[in-house]
Amino acid sequence: MVGRLEGKNAIVTGAAGGIGLETTILMLREGASVLMTDINESTLATALTKVNTIVPASSRTGRVETKAVDVSSESQIEAAIAHLDSWGGLDVIFNNAGIMHPKDGDAEECPEDIWDRTMNINVKGVWFGSKHAVRSFRKHGKKRASVINTASMVALVGAATPQLAYTASKGAVLAMTRELAIVHAREGFRFNSLCPAPLNTPLLQDWLGDDKEKRFRREVHFPSGRFGEAIEQAHAVVFLASDESSFVNATDFVVDGGLTKAYVTPEGPATEAPKNLAQS
Ligand SMILES: NC(=O)c1ccc[n+]([C@@H]2O[C@H](COP(=O)([O-])OP(=O)(O)OC[C@H]3O[C@@H](n4cnc5c(N)ncnc54)[C@H](O)[C@@H]3O)[C@@H](O)[C@H]2O)c1
Repeated sequence: MVGRLEGKNAIVTGAAGGIGLETTILMLREGASVLMTDINESTLATALTKVNTIVPASSRTGRVETKAVDVSSESQIEAAIAHLDSWGGLDVIFNNAGIMHPKDGDAEECPEDIWDRTMNINVKGVWFGSKHAVRSFRKHGKKRASVINTASMVALVGAATPQLAYTASKGAVLAMTRELAIVHAREGFRFNSLCPAPLNTPLLQDWLGDDKEKRFRREVHFPSGRFGEAIEQAHAVVFLASDESSFVNATDFVVDGGLTKAYVTPEGPATEAPKNLAQS
C-alpha cells in the first residue's frame, strides 16, 4: 500500500540509523516529506545517500532533507521544527533519538553525569520535541497531528541486567506521553509511545558484541527466539503517524514479539527476521 502519509510533513530524530532510518524510508514510500535529524552529521549524510538510493526522488512525491540536531538543545529542536514552516508546517514528529550509555548500571554503578546525560537526551529531548510540535501544530492550524515518542519495553518490565538511568528515562517518556495525549486530545494532536523490545541495531548490538552469555541471557526471553529488527518498529511508527490510527491515543504501543507477555518461551530454531531496507 502506498500513500498512507501523502502530504504529511514529518521530522524524525535519530534518523541516521536503526529505527529512525528505516522509518524515514517507509515514510517517504508512503508519500510523506521527511526532515531527517541526528546529532551525528557524518552518519546522517551517509544515511541520506542510502535513502536517496532506496527511494529515489523520481519514485516519491515528498521531499527529504537533513539537519544536524542535538535533541537535548531546545533551540536546535525549535529550529528544526521551524524549518518545516515553508513546507506547510509539521504534521508528524517521531521523537526517537536516545542513548543507552555503556557506563549505565545499577543504582550504585551509574555515575551521576551519565544519569544526567541520559535524562537530557532521552527525556528532555522528547519534551522539547513535543512542546515545539504543539506550538507548530497550533500555528499552522493543524486539526490532525501525531507525535510518536520512543520509550522501551524496559519501562514496562524489570530486568536483572540493569541500566537504571536508561530504564528511568523511558518510564518518564511513557508518563509524559500519556499526559500530553490527554491534554491535547480535543485539538486532534495524538501522542503515543513506541515500546520496542531489544533490537538488532547498533545501540544494543555494539554493546553486546560477541559475548555469547550476555546475548543468550536476553535471547532466551524472546518467544520467537530472536531480537527484533528496526523495520518491525518502523512499520508500527508509520501506522501511528497515519490517519489510520486516528482513534489510537495515549498508548504504550508495544512491539516486542510477545516478550512482555511470556513466561516460559518455546524451544527450537528462531523465526526468520525481515530484512531492513537500509541493509539491502
Ligand atoms: N535498540 C534497542 O534494542 C532498543 C530497544 C528499545 C528502545 N530503543 C530506543 O529506540 C530509539 C532508537 O534506537 P536505535 O535502536 O535505532 O539506535 P541507534 O543507536 O541505531 O539510533 C539512535 C540514533 O540517535 C542518535 N542520537 C544520539 N544522541 C542524540 C542526540 N543527543 N540528538 C540527536 N540524535 C542523537 C544517534 O546518533 C543514532 O543515530 C532510542 O530511543 C532507543 O532508546 C532501542
